[in-house]
Amino acid sequence: MSQFNTITVKNLSKCYDQSNVEEKKYVLENVNLHLKPGEFYILLGPSGCGKSTLLNIIAGFISKTKGEVLIDGQEIVKPGRERGIVFQNSDASLFPWLNVRENIEFGLKMKKMPLVQREKLSQKYIQLVGLEGHEKKYPSELSGGMKQRAQIARVLVNEPEILLMDEPFGALDAQTRRVLQKEVVHIWQQTKKTVIFVTHDIQEALIIGQKIGIMSKSPSACIYQEYDVHLQYPRDVTGRRFNLLYQTILGEMENGVEIGGDRI
Ligand SMILES: Nc1ncnc2c1ncn2[C@@H]1O[C@H](COP(=O)(O)OP(=O)(O)O)[C@@H](O)[C@H]1O
Ligand SMILES: [Mg+2]
Repeated sequence: MSQFNTITVKNLSKCYDQSNVEEKKYVLENVNLHLKPGEFYILLGPSGCGKSTLLNIIAGFISKTKGEVLIDGQEIVKPGRERGIVFQNSDASLFPWLNVRENIEFGLKMKKMPLVQREKLSQKYIQLVGLEGHEKKYPSELSGGMKQRAQIARVLVNEPEILLMDEPFGALDAQTRRVLQKEVVHIWQQTKKTVIFVTHDIQEALIIGQKIGIMSKSPSACIYQEYDVHLQYPRDVTGRRFNLLYQTILGEMENGVEIGGDRI
């Protein structure tokens, strides 16, 4: 078992407004969350509710206003090697002047890893994300799905114990999304990482997640309901239990978003 893998968020609140006005608006208020080692957790919520804010606080990119974020009991204060982040917009994170292999190896090169070791590692992850045969292509020659695969490999190659994914398939067409959803489950099963995956899509959440945390609408958003998804992989989207859960969550979100932070 790796060293870093539980994530605990305790009464976390975030206010972007730094001024001393009494009526500060909290984007997040009293968010509580606990992930066991190797758990695949989905943060599900409407657009603008604060999913990216929460993920970026866990990543250590932005500061919190109140509360605690702990990784294996240690308060996080800045980004760390044990947390790998995959963003929605892969265009912004791949270097256009480097090919797929060079992009994937970039972080390892920065760490001064010897060439042979670097190549071995990048090859492993190129295969894992299904990019064999495309190693020499530049980002401009890749489809959206391939860019996203490259982006995932670039994060995985650093072997972080925790994977934070912010709507990674949001910009892709439905078919590519389906393929990558299966792929990400496969990667998780292979690597046993602790994963937080952000989405606003209920079906996506049910296709890939073990546990789903539903966020209420901002301001004062929090995780007000959690579901354990006891369905086998690969998930059958036409199955009765899948659809029952889909309808339940849909109803929950339609009601829950209005009452926001009042429900825990
Ligand atoms: N840097 C920022 N400064 C001020 N407000 C922000 C900033 N980033 C996000 N917000 C606000 O916080 C709320 C939540 O945003 P975000 O976390 O991006 O939501 P989501 O990812 O769920 O769509 C929104 O109202 C957004 O406008
Ligand atoms: Mg977002």
